[in-house]
Amino acid sequence: VKHPLKIAVTGAAGQISYALLFRLLSGEILGKDQPISLNLLDLPQMEQTLAGIEMEIIDGCFPLLHEIKYGSDPYALFKDIDVALLIGAKPRTKGMERKDLLSENAKIFIDQGKALQAGAKPTAKVIVVGNPCNTNAMVLKHYAPKLDPMNVHALMHLDELRAIAQIAHKKRVNVSDVKGVVIWGNHSNTQVPDVSRCTVKGQPHGLDENWIKNEWQPRIQTRGAEVIKTLGRSSAASAANATVQLLHQLMTPTSEGEWYSSAVLTNHGAYPLEEGILFGVPCRTKQDLSCEVVSGILWSDEEMIRTTEKELVGEREFCKREGVV
Ligand SMILES: NC(=O)c1ccc[n+]([C@@H]2O[C@H](COP(=O)([O-])OP(=O)(O)OC[C@H]3O[C@@H](n4cnc5c(N)ncnc54)[C@H](O)[C@@H]3O)[C@@H](O)[C@H]2O)c1
Repeated sequence: VKHPLKIAVTGAAGQISYALLFRLLSGEILGKDQPISLNLLDLPQMEQTLAGIEMEIIDGCFPLLHEIKYGSDPYALFKDIDVALLIGAKPRTKGMERKDLLSENAKIFIDQGKALQAGAKPTAKVIVVGNPCNTNAMVLKHYAPKLDPMNVHALMHLDELRAIAQIAHKKRVNVSDVKGVVIWGNHSNTQVPDVSRCTVKGQPHGLDENWIKNEWQPRIQTRGAEVIKTLGRSSAASAANATVQLLHQLMTPTSEGEWYSSAVLTNHGAYPLEEGILFGVPCRTKQDLSCEVVSGILWSDEEMIRTTEKELVGEREFCKREGVV
């Protein structure tokens, strides 16, 4: 029997987590032979909700559930963890400016970074979902220097899945026939969805350039807002799906010639980017389950890349001025 994997989930009383926990425990993501210990973290006022969620998880009668704990102290709940799914964040409220959102969230990720530094296994893998996820992860990494930078990810995988789904729909093929899409940059509307290396059924994609530029790219960049407008709340089940799918990618060697998009610290040097920001790039998981950046993909639109880079540098400069990093 495998040793249980200890997974911390923050924002565990929220809607993404609600759609995520049962997926994790089903065994589809980490394997039917991988026991899981869950540490659920949310704000103190959400304790009652966490108690209810614990009841539902127990009622799920999952053979893979080894242990479950919940609370609001990251130091207690990040102790010895293998994986952290950091979903909890302060949402943007009406009239709130982006800089207020940044500084409110920075406080959360300073604390959580320190708690990971204090207690997490040095090999822990972290996925930051709470927005602004790239800069939140940058702050977190600053306070958790012991973590391997290639193990700290900001979630771009939802953008990637959205991008693949739209191409499959356009080409009338199955989503699994679409490979090689890349999402560069920030998880925001400046992101750069890129088809320069995309294949459909193993062949060059053959998509119309006009459709790519004027329909596909803007649609992927603004898909989050489109969902909010249509559904009346922010995407949760699809975000949960992307989070567990990325975790699966991080824990499974990537097939030859393939990659997935994720935002990691730019200090890898694979592309000429400003260091010290978390930027979406193509990544692979090696046989030893370490993560590497796939180099050598030519940017089809450097101007767009520089725009999203500039946005991330601006967010980092703001954090510096505020004394956050
Ligand atoms: N990267 C992506 O692709 C992506 C996609 C969708 C949503 N998101 C982001 O994910 C986040 C969560 O979304 P949701 O729909 O689950 O929101 P939600 O409001 O339903 O849940 C968020 C939860 O986080 C908790 N929380 C707040 N501060 C916390 C802290 N310091 N420690 C622990 N928990 C804390 C809240 O109490 C709440 O229960 C949001 O920031 C959202 O913008 C990211």
